[in-house]
Amino acid sequence: MTSFWPTQEHWSVAIPLHTPHPRLPILNATGFVQLPAADFVVPPSEYESLEYLDWKSGGDTNFAPLASADGELDCRGFWDKGKTDKDALWTSNADHAPTLKHYVSGVGANFGRVRIIKLQPQDRETAIRSIHRDDNNRFNPDNEGWVVRSWVELSDNPDSYMLLMDNGPDGLPDPSTEVRVPLSRGARFVVDTQRLWHVVVHPGTSARHALITSFESGPVLEEWIDGQIGARA
Ligand SMILES: [Fe+2]
Repeated sequence: MTSFWPTQEHWSVAIPLHTPHPRLPILNATGFVQLPAADFVVPPSEYESLEYLDWKSGGDTNFAPLASADGELDCRGFWDKGKTDKDALWTSNADHAPTLKHYVSGVGANFGRVRIIKLQPQDRETAIRSIHRDDNNRFNPDNEGWVVRSWVELSDNPDSYMLLMDNGPDGLPDPSTEVRVPLSRGARFVVDTQRLWHVVVHPGTSARHALITSFESGPVLEEWIDGQIGARA
């Protein structure tokens, strides 16, 4: 049915999986954790009126950087500037997104790229063509925390989902591990995107917007996640 499936030649297969970097124990089992929905409202102007760049990742996408390696509106990997995906600087877009800036700062953990993704609709078959793992930890010293990614869904697409798959013994996505995270407004989750293959299936008719942030694993991020989960009770 699906005409595309990654093979050993896929660029993601060469990205390291097992390294000494300190990880978040809560991600050990499945590589992701769902957080309670956001308890704050993000005014649409904070993501609709930003400066977007043409940058393709995971489908027909544009990105609005809120924080980048040097504070410039630049989507390139931090490694192009010899930098790990941490210690980011706010861009001019952040001035127009105070709620989101406050949210990311409030986590307290070291963050790298902070971006709004704008994804055009794509069905599952189209999406699978873009399934991949991220290269989040290039240049990250072995004794520093593993970089993971956090999402906040800004538009409301309950019928769309983040498709996640863990690795099979061959290093390719294992369909028996598929998880679908619904992308309703306010949905929040943290994913080890260097470990899990991922892509968004978005059968809607308008673009989906979400906040994506790279965070360094460590006690600060762990406490923040614990606090978010605890706040659900
Ligand atoms: Fe990715």
